[in-house]
Amino acid sequence: MTNRLSLAIDRIAPSQTTAMTDRAFALRAAGRDIISLSVGEPDFATPAHVLEAAKAALDAGDTKYTAVGGTTRMKAAAALHFARDLGIEASPSQVTVSAGGKQAIFHALLATIDPGDEVVIPSPWWVSYPEIVRFAGGTVVPLETTAASGFRFTAAELEARIGPRTRWLLLNSPGNPTGACYPPHLLREIGDMLRRHPQVLVLSDDIYAPLIYTGERHATLAVLCPDLGHRILTISGVSKSHAMTGFRIGVATGPEWLIGAMERLQSHSSGNPASISQAAAVAAFEGPQDFLAGWRDRFRARRDKVVTAINAIPGLSTPVPEGAFYCMVDAAPLMDRFEDDTALAMHLLDQGVAVVQASAFGSKDGFRISFAADEAVLAEALRRIAAAVA
Ligand SMILES: Cc1ncc(COP(=O)(O)O)c(C=O)c1O
Repeated sequence: MTNRLSLAIDRIAPSQTTAMTDRAFALRAAGRDIISLSVGEPDFATPAHVLEAAKAALDAGDTKYTAVGGTTRMKAAAALHFARDLGIEASPSQVTVSAGGKQAIFHALLATIDPGDEVVIPSPWWVSYPEIVRFAGGTVVPLETTAASGFRFTAAELEARIGPRTRWLLLNSPGNPTGACYPPHLLREIGDMLRRHPQVLVLSDDIYAPLIYTGERHATLAVLCPDLGHRILTISGVSKSHAMTGFRIGVATGPEWLIGAMERLQSHSSGNPASISQAAAVAAFEGPQDFLAGWRDRFRARRDKVVTAINAIPGLSTPVPEGAFYCMVDAAPLMDRFEDDTALAMHLLDQGVAVVQASAFGSKDGFRISFAADEAVLAEALRRIAAAVA
């Protein structure tokens, strides 16, 4: 059989967020008026100084291979970002750069998971986590959280999922799709508990850290529990904070053995992240950050409007997300009218709004909307959603 696929690829499904976005594009191409709230990227333009740096790199002939884990300058800029924005001090050998945060996560998990290893993933989860774990041969151990607990788990709930084969905890704060943030006291409790389980590594996905609306500083495990630093990989990037999703740059910091293994794998997968994109990311990290305050204000204002509008629609409800740019909408009261939440998402698409069904995130009976869209577009989308479920 020539079209036989590997066992590894047969274990994973295509990204459902990408699938919904592609469907929306296809309907639009066919002439339908579709508002897409399914995609996970800021609608703001990439800052001008970043674009200038990319152009300058092209003009300077900066178009060749670089070191696999990023240029010296890129690594220094990533280290600057980790220190200034997250409070994590790292040497260049503890930092690596990949084609997006996604690739850093992919390489870290592939480099450390053997068949039978267990990975605890709090749900609702980012769509790619369980697929990457399964691709690596690991076993997903879901840790369900609900709106009632602010989509956060407790140290005790986590400890109940930990066993001798637990290899990783995947921790995402602010979270996609919930916007939930873990406060310092909860992270300290989680850290205290993890000290009893030295076999567990923690992947702290902080890619949305600059987008927090509570006014509080982002809290992260590597800073709060420095003694656990040798077991923590922190992921960040420029995709969400600097509206640079297309550049494909992600950064990671963690223990040298793990960073080295990720680079070993990267040396055979993609090689270095794109040279032009690295130059742009250096400008993003080294350049002015003041635009971010304005973006945050706009995101917060949109969030407030969307949350108010959703909660005014009979049958729909959402808690107030503290960070990122998504609302996880509960539609349980409407589910007697739909076969499942995919059918509900399809119905909304038919009525002109693309969202992503909650089941894509390991949850159920709801959907995620992104509020990274223009205010007028959001208002029209909410009007359509209200009409579609009336
Ligand atoms: C939680 C989370 N982590 C990581 C990523 C990866 O981002 P990128 O690969 O675009 O840098 C995303 C993107 O959607 C995300 O939502």
